[in-house]
Amino acid sequence: MRKKIIAGNWKMNMTPSQAVALCAELKDLVKNDDVDVVYCVPAIDIVPVVNALKGTNVKVGAENMYFEEKGAFTGEISAAMLKDAGVEYVIIGHSERRDYFKEDDALLNKKVKKAIEAGLTPILCCGETLEQREMGITMDWIRMQIKSDLAGVAAADVAKLVIAYEPIWAIGTGKTATTAQAEEVCGGIRACIAEIYDQATAEAVRIQYGGSVNAGNAAELFAEKDIDGGLVGGASLKADFGKIVCYNK
Ligand code: 13P
Repeated sequence: MRKKIIAGNWKMNMTPSQAVALCAELKDLVKNDDVDVVYCVPAIDIVPVVNALKGTNVKVGAENMYFEEKGAFTGEISAAMLKDAGVEYVIIGHSERRDYFKEDDALLNKKVKKAIEAGLTPILCCGETLEQREMGITMDWIRMQIKSDLAGVAAADVAKLVIAYEPIWAIGTGKTATTAQAEEVCGGIRACIAEIYDQATAEAVRIQYGGSVNAGNAAELFAEKDIDGGLVGGASLKADFGKIVCYNK
């Protein structure tokens, strides 16, 4: 049985002091032993958030990292730095990074490998544009993303990672994929993992849905057999996140 994983992606929100205040506000609302809870926060918030969450059930994730070990890469943050600061998860390949920062699958493949090597759990994002969905190429596109981003990654490592399916047209738009649409693609991703690796790896990997998840739609989405939780943007910055985390209570 896969444990659900519900992660907030704070994106470029929350100054360090606001971040600490949000952790305090949400502390008692996000207690649910049935699920893994993660806050993926801006790099500058990592240290204060790790401290603020000590002794709680919430783990910390980063929103990005660079694949090189160390050196002259001004402005970048390494996997080892994240690990040493107390980070356990790292979002890789969010559609905003693919789009605004031109991150391609070859780069993301290097990031995934480096994160795993450093002992971080990647939350690897994939998803189609509205145009691709309307053209009927959603699954072909996502299969291509998954295959490229995981090239050369061993089955044992894939079994431990998290994949987030985020249809780009549903991000920040208030337009959620229907439960059936979300389940269809999450199931398709699992089938893709079975095809590249094997059935046991596919059964183990956790697949989240992301895109306008809120307190009203979380329970229905998370009840689907291939949806193992969510990657939550806007709603992770308010008390509603507690309701999403406690969707089964
Ligand atoms: P929203 O929940 O704000 O739509 O954002 C989803 C997302 O991009 C999470 O990574």
